Amino acid sequence: MMKRIRTTLFLAALPMLASVPAVAADVAAGAVKVKEVCQACHGMNGNSTSPDYPRLGGQHEDYLVQALRDYKSGARKNPIMNGFAATLSEQDIENVAAYFASQPQVVFTKR
Ligand code: HEC
Repeated sequence: MMKRIRTTLFLAALPMLASVPAVAADVAAGAVKVKEVCQACHGMNGNSTSPDYPRLGGQHEDYLVQALRDYKSGARKNPIMNGFAATLSEQDIENVAAYFASQPQVVFTKR
């Protein structure tokens, strides 16, 4: 009896689990976007050698997605990034985040 209830609850929850990732990230499309827009400041691999620009290579994908959503919504304020994030769709955000997360993390000892 208990077992049947648990099975029923599990099956009822399946469609919810399946719908969690709203959009699947496309790393190749992310690379195209980065080449067009972001690399001028952050570098193609996300590891800018300029201290003015945070390094994005190898950063956690979730962190990058959240940062870009926050710039887009205005929850995080920066005149430069608010402007660039505004041009990104939710799909673009997922793509560029996946791309930068896939790049090597570079640690510079001296800038
Ligand atoms: C004109 C230069 C410039 C361009 C182009 C640019 N950025 Fe930025 N980016 C910055 C600066 C400056 C900051 C630091 C802003 C701050 O202090 O919040 C930043 C911060 C970020 C952060 C937050 C990093 C962290 O550690 O919290 C992310 C993520 C990011 N940029 C992604 C992108 C993406 C994706 C693009 C392309 C769509 C892009 N940027 C284009 C200058 C730029």
